[in-house]
Amino acid sequence: MAPGARITSIDEVPERGSHLFTVSDLHGTDREVILVRCDEKPGVRAWVNVCPHEYHRLDRGRGAAMRDGEIIRPKHGSMFDACAGDCDNGEAAGTTLTAVEIAVDDGDVCLTDKRNTYRHEGGRDDEDGPNSTTHIGC
Ligand code: FES
Repeated sequence: MAPGARITSIDEVPERGSHLFTVSDLHGTDREVILVRCDEKPGVRAWVNVCPHEYHRLDRGRGAAMRDGEIIRPKHGSMFDACAGDCDNGEAAGTTLTAVEIAVDDGDVCLTDKRNTYRHEGGRDDEDGPNSTTHIGC
């Protein structure tokens, strides 16, 4: 069993798009994180929901745009590898998304990053969402 909070089921992470959730960092600041599919084990990755170029959100509440294993940043068209988080094209070339540690345990995606505490599903403005008050440990 992986220690940490359950984020969602791996089956709930869209094949094209992202699953958005919010964590609280060590300073108590809420940060948005996205889960995206990845061809490498364990099959998903978690990235802070910010493009390093101009700090715009990758997922603005409707899922990040994805194509062929890459996250597309619509603002300037840069694409980030969904597994590695790096970008070799466009305005964001040479940057890498900020990773958040997760694990997959019996089909559940769990937050294992000691720098972040699970808050709720959805973005920072969705605090009153359906999963805002409870979550199950992994
Ligand atoms: S804001 Fe991401 S490429 Fe410019």
